[in-house]
Amino acid sequence: MSAHTHSTRILAIVAIFFSSYIVGIYSAARASHQLAPLNATHNESSSLDAVDAKASSETSLARSSSRNPRWFPFYTIGRFSNDICLGNNLLMGTCMINGECTDNKGVAAGSCSTITNQAVCCIYQRTCGASTSYNNTYFYNSNYPAPYAGGGRCTIVVNPPDSTICQLRIDFMALSLAPPTGDGLCTTDALTISGGASQVPTICGENSGQHVYVDFNGVSPITISVATSAGYTFNRNWQLQLRMMACTSATLAPSGCLQYHMASSGNIASFNYVSAASSALNSIGVQGTRQLASLRYGICIRKATGICSITYSQVGSDTYSFTMTNDVGAVDPTLLATSAVQSQDCTTDYIIIPAPTQGGINMPSDRFCGLGLVPTTTSAKPFVVYAVTDANEEMDISNRGFYLAYSQNACPVL
Ligand SMILES: *[C@@H]1O[C@H](CO)[C@@H](O)[C@H](O)[C@H]1NC(C)=O
Ligand SMILES: *[C@@H]1O[C@H](CO)[C@@H](O)[C@H](O)[C@H]1NC(C)=O
Ligand SMILES: *[C@@H]1O[C@H](CO)[C@@H](O)[C@H](O)[C@H]1NC(C)=O
Repeated sequence: MSAHTHSTRILAIVAIFFSSYIVGIYSAARASHQLAPLNATHNESSSLDAVDAKASSETSLARSSSRNPRWFPFYTIGRFSNDICLGNNLLMGTCMINGECTDNKGVAAGSCSTITNQAVCCIYQRTCGASTSYNNTYFYNSNYPAPYAGGGRCTIVVNPPDSTICQLRIDFMALSLAPPTGDGLCTTDALTISGGASQVPTICGENSGQHVYVDFNGVSPITISVATSAGYTFNRNWQLQLRMMACTSATLAPSGCLQYHMASSGNIASFNYVSAASSALNSIGVQGTRQLASLRYGICIRKATGICSITYSQVGSDTYSFTMTNDVGAVDPTLLATSAVQSQDCTTDYIIIPAPTQGGINMPSDRFCGLGLVPTTTSAKPFVVYAVTDANEEMDISNRGFYLAYSQNACPVL
């Protein structure tokens, strides 16, 4: 960072020199000997974050230069924000001068400024052994989306750039690892996330589309590690988006929420939820569960404005979408997803919906397990569902877990 500071000083001088040009709009200058210290071979990646006194918004005064040695360096000085942008590859990046993106080992994915065509949407993609301080870094297996053969441990270390960053949201854009054992243990492949102030369970199996939040503890980086077994042939791959959240962000996940859904309606699912049964046998030799053992976490949903309650129901197209305890195979399939197989006498694997009602009737307990969940509504705030599994999945034969739709209900008009 001291090299950066040095460049920053040099650029500050340049900024003063060109101050008559940078009056809020694009300006360009053909440079000559005055700018010799900033030539292309010296360092191409300098940029200076200047605070715009008027708008007090984050602005960038940036420079880039021609790589063609036959020409005098051509400097462009314009102003544009280092905003988040959507690249033409549909990944999220940061808007910056092309040379800075290259020096940061980013990939330019289209332009992002109407002020200068030197500004590109810079995408950060990193694989095994990397560390990053950049927002929206994508962590993927080498050769992604091609499968990763397996063996060893692939890690990325995420260092927040400063103490204004409090949380990391990790989106599993793709996450396909070897399945858990029939007892719900991630012993073949495992994603672990360590170093944060909040706990993240070890995850394996099919989890594309899921996400987790982790709080930074203010001291250490967060390490994301994918351990894989070479002996197990499987088409594993992953691409995770790592989003840093400012402490002042309006979209920080509330404390205690491993997951935080911001849409007014959507779906929530247990880790490794797929409608198909696990192919693994469990320790008593019967078809195992898809559920991961020993979980205990909160799934939170942001209350939209004018909303008074929330309703959870099974995703109707999937009769296995609430199979948490007992033997799926031993039940008449037509009874799955009905109140006949819903239980509130739950001690092993269950979800908790605080202060629940069904059909307008208060339920005697806030726990739900068994092989079905009829639509359940609560007006308890914040909106949260707790997922609990115990360490023993033996009696949970062929279970899938839960896959629920949620919808928020407007307050009654009085
Ligand atoms: C250019 O400066 C940046 C910091 O501004 C530094 O990280 C990078 O290593 C430098 N590049 C070269 C080629 O010196
Ligand atoms: C560019 O910078 C390098 C390293 O600082 C220096 O040796 C070289 O003379 C400079 N070239 C020009 C054209 O100023
Ligand atoms: C990081 O990027 C996300 C968009 O993916 C944005 O919402 C968030 O505010 C950015 N974080 C910071 C600290 O700028």
